[in-house]
Amino acid sequence: MKSFIRIFACLLTATSVAAAQSEPALKNAFKGKFLVGAALNEAQFSGTNASEAALVKKNFNSTTPENVLKWEYVEPQPGQFNFAPSDRYVDFGETNGMFIIGHTLVWHSQTPDWVFQNADRSILLERMSNHIHTVVGRYRGRIKGWDVVNEALNEDGTLRNSPWRKIIGDDYIEKAFQFAHEADPQAELYYNDYSLENPAKRAGVVALVKKLQAAGIFITAVGTQEHINLKWPAIQLVDDTLTELGQLGVKVNISELDIDVLPRVSNDTSADVGKNFAADPALNPYTNGLPDSVQQMLAQRYVELFAAYQRHPGVVARVTFWGVTDADSWLNNWPVAGRMNYPLLFDRRGNPKPAYLSVMNLCKQKTSPFKYTNHSVQKPGDTPVGSGTLNP
Ligand code: G3I
Repeated sequence: MKSFIRIFACLLTATSVAAAQSEPALKNAFKGKFLVGAALNEAQFSGTNASEAALVKKNFNSTTPENVLKWEYVEPQPGQFNFAPSDRYVDFGETNGMFIIGHTLVWHSQTPDWVFQNADRSILLERMSNHIHTVVGRYRGRIKGWDVVNEALNEDGTLRNSPWRKIIGDDYIEKAFQFAHEADPQAELYYNDYSLENPAKRAGVVALVKKLQAAGIFITAVGTQEHINLKWPAIQLVDDTLTELGQLGVKVNISELDIDVLPRVSNDTSADVGKNFAADPALNPYTNGLPDSVQQMLAQRYVELFAAYQRHPGVVARVTFWGVTDADSWLNNWPVAGRMNYPLLFDRRGNPKPAYLSVMNLCKQKTSPFKYTNHSVQKPGDTPVGSGTLNP
């Protein structure tokens, strides 16, 4: 009996390898449902990482800049704009027919100190207006959607007491959207945040969107980042979030999707970039590759998420992964530096993981996809059995 199962498993694995190699791309699998994107680093969009650039062109139809359009990179000093990296990012997107996203205009993090120094309301509004009009204006008609304000809420749904709020007041959010809309009336405009699956925080974003709408502010969508883990949030919370936000008449972008497979460091679900904890081997258990059992949990988790996204047609406009391969992920260094995480669909060599196969299978099957049976422990550098190499 065991030999039969082994032969069947090998056949299945061989089938899945062949299937992965001939698999249509992620963007084609969800064509007509929602865009599929990835956050890009400079090596990818400037072409120095040619293999990952090829992976992006093959699988995605939308791009988000992981860092190069953040204030500290674009305007590190007053009036001194550094557009060379972001120009390359936009050129890459246009050359490859991408729906190009701009990330992000107003955020409490990665904003140079000078922005807030010696500023009162009118001075800070002028600095914000100049930055937004200059940056959005430069890419008018080319960048199709902007994360205008990022992470303005606390976990309880109240406004974060950032320097933006302290100096300008609560209406800094409205002003940011107003300036962005003035700079490019055709661009989609988004509010972007994490942990919106938490009912209290979701209530805060619902109130914020209603306030913007009541003030006649143009807002296209809410970005729910979905920096999540294998357990949180329950899929019901994902459905609740998509339902409630959809009822506001805005679209929803799954804007920064990744699934942390490592032991949690704290119980809170916040993806606040400011968190960091000391290294501990117990928090970094998979330095020799991800066990098949965890590969399967990751695959199942992604299938449940994409099944949920498809239950909200016309609401979910885009699903963007926060990175291309596991090697690129910010989660290798947050909230503990120097860990080996496995949060995405492509492994460190750019090969599709079991999670990719399962997500692609979801599109073909009405029932839940086959159970991945690969029993080998993937080691960094291995070409995992059961995941073919994409033909760029
Ligand atoms: O480019 C410098 C490099 O020259 C230097 O040698 C190196 C070491 O100091 O730092 C490099 O800059 C780092 C940058 O990533 C590029 O790798 C910054 O220190 C580091 O803070 C920055 O982290 C980014 C993080 O935002 C912090 O803002 C992550 O890449 C990025 O994935 C992450 O993305 C955020 C979203 O923008 C908003 N939502 C949460 C998400 C995750 O935190």
